[in-house]
This record gives sequence, C-alpha cells and structure tokens, in this order.
Amino acid sequence: MSNKIITTKDGSHSILSEQFGVSYHSIHGALQETYHVFINAGFHFQVEKKNDISILEIGWGSGLNSLVTFLEQEKTTSNVQYTTVEAYPISIDIVKQLNYDASLDAPISLLELHQLEWNKFIPLSPTFQFKKLKKKFQEIEDKNQYDLIYFDAFAPNAQAEFWEAPFLEKMYAALQSDGTLVTYCAKGSFKRALKAVGFIIEALPGPPGKREMTRALKP
Ligand SMILES: C[S@@+](CC[C@H](N)C(=O)[O-])C[C@H]1O[C@@H](n2cnc3c(N)ncnc32)[C@H](O)[C@@H]1O
Repeated sequence: MSNKIITTKDGSHSILSEQFGVSYHSIHGALQETYHVFINAGFHFQVEKKNDISILEIGWGSGLNSLVTFLEQEKTTSNVQYTTVEAYPISIDIVKQLNYDASLDAPISLLELHQLEWNKFIPLSPTFQFKKLKKKFQEIEDKNQYDLIYFDAFAPNAQAEFWEAPFLEKMYAALQSDGTLVTYCAKGSFKRALKAVGFIIEALPGPPGKREMTRALKP
C-alpha cells in the first residue's frame, strides 16, 4: 500500500492513508490541529497541574505531535516521559518529503525521530524521555500510568472500535487520577461512551475548520 503526501490549509503537510482511506491530520491544517488540540488543550493544560508528566500517544503516525511536544517542552521546566504506540510506521521515503522541519526549527529532525530504535526509552534531552512502541492499540494493558493521553486514532468512520466504550475503558485504566485525554473528535456517541466509562468531559472550541474538540478528565 502506498501513502500520499497532501498539503493542508495552513500549508503543512499531512498523509493520505491508502490502508485506512483517511488523512493523518485535519485537512484544515495539520500543524494548527497539533498545537490547538494536543499541545495547548493537552500538554500545557496538564503541565500547569503537574511538572513531571507521562504522556501516551495513540498513533505516532508522522511523528508531528511528538516533535512539537518536544519543542514546546523545552520552553517549560517540566520533565516528560513520552510513549507513543504505532503498528504501521510510515516509510522513510514519506518522512523525507514532510515539510514540518522547515516550519518548526526543532532541536531534532523528524527523520532522526523516525530512525530511533523502537521499544526503549531514549533521552532526547535530560528532561525528555521518548519511547516508540511498535504494537497494536488493542495490546495496551497499562494501568494508572499516564497523566495525559493524546488520543489520535483515525476517525470513527475509519476505526469505530477505538471510539467505543470497551477501548475507552482501557484508556481510563491507563490514566492516573487527575489525568487528561485530549482528542480532535467531538462525536456525540464518543462523548457518551467517555462519560459511560467514568470520564468528565469538556467540549472545547475546535481548531480552525472544526467547531469542537474533546477533553476528558479522569476524576
Ligand atoms: C491519525 S494518525 C496519527 C497521527 C499522529 N499522531 C501524528 O502526529 O502524525 C493514526 C495512526 O494510528 C495508527 N494505527 C491505526 N490503527 C492502529 C492499531 N490498531 N494499532 C496501532 N496503530 C494503529 C496508524 O498507522 C496511524 O499512524
């Protein structure tokens, strides 16, 4: 299967997945979505509550969320452990075509991130530990481990099972008390499933092009 690079409305690239038939990011702006949903509503929100945080990302994909988190973390005094899960890594050929490095000026390139070894923590700096786990979301069994989940699976129309209660129960279990899950999705059935498994949900304004996004708190 081959993926294709597309340009989103803010000029940043995304990838069109041949396998799942959807794009990896919002077509209204990949970089804008990362900052709005995951960094501002997620990372900065959680770091204000707690300085040392452990992040779980559902779907590493292009690596954009992790690269921007590293860049933003450097502006704080926080300590971060970042674990990301991905079963179907993109090809290095696609990585080399993505235009994120040019707009971000990050201390590590996207290509370097993609060339890191899988399944072990690697320090990107003294205060940022990074681990890519090559496995399926279905295999996640962590309990009370994370402060923040970047919930970035493909949309419910492509991957319904991850937006329903049985999988969301696993996410609830993986979070520590006072932990937060953020996602770009604001579908009614998803929000009801989050509530059913015990989350307190907040509907926040979405990034450009989307009315709403969701932040869910584990009490
Ligand atoms: C929306 S994209 C993630 C975008 C990413 N966070 C970024 O910053 O570019 C969803 C990702 O989930 C991965 N994925 C889909 N189904 C999966 C599964 N069952 N287990 C693990 N990874 C999966 C896809 O390969 C894809 O990379």
